[in-house]
Amino acid sequence: MKSRGALVPISGLHGIGQRPVAFGTPGRASHTALKAGMGFFLLFFVCASGYSQKFDGLALTPPMGWNSWNTFGANISEGLIRETADAMITNGMQEAGYRYIVIDDGWEAKERDAQGNLVPDPARFPSGMKALGDYLHGKGFKFGIHNCAGTKTCAGLPGGRGHEFEDARTYASWAVDFLKYDWCNHGTANGEETYKTMRDALYAAGRPVVFSLCEWGDTQPWLWAKEVGHLWRTTGDIMDCYDCQGVYALGWKFILQKQNGLEKYAGPDHWNDPDMLEVGNPGLSLAESRAHFSLWCLLAAPLMAGNDPRAVSPEIRAILTDRELIAIDQDPLGKQGYAFMLHPGKQIWVKELANDEWAVCFFNDSDGAVKLRLDWSHLSFVKGTRRIRDVWEKTDLGTTGANFERAVPAHDVFVVRLGPST
Ligand code: GLA
Repeated sequence: MKSRGALVPISGLHGIGQRPVAFGTPGRASHTALKAGMGFFLLFFVCASGYSQKFDGLALTPPMGWNSWNTFGANISEGLIRETADAMITNGMQEAGYRYIVIDDGWEAKERDAQGNLVPDPARFPSGMKALGDYLHGKGFKFGIHNCAGTKTCAGLPGGRGHEFEDARTYASWAVDFLKYDWCNHGTANGEETYKTMRDALYAAGRPVVFSLCEWGDTQPWLWAKEVGHLWRTTGDIMDCYDCQGVYALGWKFILQKQNGLEKYAGPDHWNDPDMLEVGNPGLSLAESRAHFSLWCLLAAPLMAGNDPRAVSPEIRAILTDRELIAIDQDPLGKQGYAFMLHPGKQIWVKELANDEWAVCFFNDSDGAVKLRLDWSHLSFVKGTRRIRDVWEKTDLGTTGANFERAVPAHDVFVVRLGPST
């Protein structure tokens, strides 16, 4: 449940203000003082502009990993995180590209320590976050953590507001690689200004961190966050269902609809984030998991698995680790797909790939099976004759020279990759 907390004044610039700066000796002639003043101004400008950036180049393709929230909520522990990492190695998720293990809300103690530092919950994370990060790094993963730009996280634990620079140093001391920064209890704070403060704090702390803005699309972060973070949420929370709707949360079918039109804002190192995957969770049928995964790949979405990797079925493992789908998501051109046609039952989503290839996803959003009759010449983006690859079935289907028919079950997809012109 999201709540609105009281406004706390921001103190984001203290990390810069605290730096010692040397300038002219008092009592000298006025032009010396003037020069000294200019020197101070220039030094301050250099320092300030030196911090006003994100770490570039950390997310040239959409980040992939696992996050604890969708399955476990705040019911997490270091044992669960370690077991998850181990499972992702044995079930092939790590090898398929899932690198970041992100510990979402629930890891903190209820209060900061006497010095104002964040501390982990002593009962559930008794070894501490540095030790847990070391474990993840030792297993070849990157270490991600969650906090909130407000006074408290959504689970009521200490938020970062007013503590940005000290918290960034804490994360650096734990060797954190990824920060998901939430938006509960932000009062009347300005989103852009608040997230820029945390960006600058991370940069000042000196450890490269992927910065994941979780501001729910409230202030259209796609318009301002390219220079602030590597990914930004575009909507409220995803739910474990196809088309249900809650107060702040939506099934993936509705989240999908909200992505169309945002494609122009995404690209290497700055991605729209339609929220973490519900693939494999009990509220989705196998077809709905397959379609959800396919469409997130067409969207060049960050692929943050939200299932329990310790208990993954062979069918779900096959979806999450499908190399051809992941290659569409991770395509180096870095273009987000868009809706070419939104006809009920026959949605067509397309994504341009490197080397003049295309991914096309036919999505049956209706509650009954549909038969597609395809005349490729109607798809105006397809120039020339292309070889057709059925991405899920792993079969080649001839070329776009001939018309084509295919039945697509309810809530399922048919995904093809169109090769270069023949
Ligand atoms: C918000 C975020 C979720 C999750 C929870 C944790 O709702 O959008 O993804 O991080 O907070 O409390």
